[in-house]
Amino acid sequence: MDMPQHKSWEITGPDVAAELLSWINVTPEDCQLLGSLYERAKERSMTFAQDFAGRILAAEQTAEYIAPYPLDVLAKTLANWFIELFSGTYDLTYAEARIRIGQVHVRLGLPVRYPIAMFDLVTRHGEQVAAAGGQTAVEAFRKILSLDIAVFSQAYEENQLTHLANVMGNERLARMLLMKEL
Ligand code: HEM
Repeated sequence: MDMPQHKSWEITGPDVAAELLSWINVTPEDCQLLGSLYERAKERSMTFAQDFAGRILAAEQTAEYIAPYPLDVLAKTLANWFIELFSGTYDLTYAEARIRIGQVHVRLGLPVRYPIAMFDLVTRHGEQVAAAGGQTAVEAFRKILSLDIAVFSQAYEENQLTHLANVMGNERLARMLLMKEL
């Protein structure tokens, strides 16, 4: 049987951060525009975090994940995460930090649908901030946000692939199984 191979499969670990940054194509103008909105993001960050926590707390099945953590600390962490979207510097260090956050959620046993479904709320608050910089800033914000959405999904996929590869013997076989080719 022919084993399929794709170039994207060879990009793993820290290389994913570099690849995504280049693939999303964040321009120096995007960085400058978003960075200029940093103070506005700061002003909105606690409202964002409260809204965010409110959604998690509104349902039993999500509230139980945050129950063991002090809410004010979690809210502060979320507020900082939001502000960083407008840091204006989106380099490898930035992307790697965002990837690590996805991995934290994998380890919580939190189904991926919750963080992904949360991005509508992030989009709403982020676009409100970005709107002050005009349409180009809103589009730049969407690019930067897509990095977070991508790395959250990537963290979950990598976790599954790693475990499946251990069972199957290698990652290529694991990918083929997921493609229903085995
Ligand atoms: C857009 C989606 C989300 C983002 C951006 C986000 C962001 C973060 C960040 C930045 C941290 C701190 C990670 C660290 O540095 O250790 C964190 C931790 C945490 N998040 Fe989320 N989160 C999201 C969705 C969720 C959801 C939906 C839940 C629960 C239903 C959740 C539960 C938690 C918990 C319990 C922690 C604490 C983990 C620990 O300290 O070990 N998150 N989150």
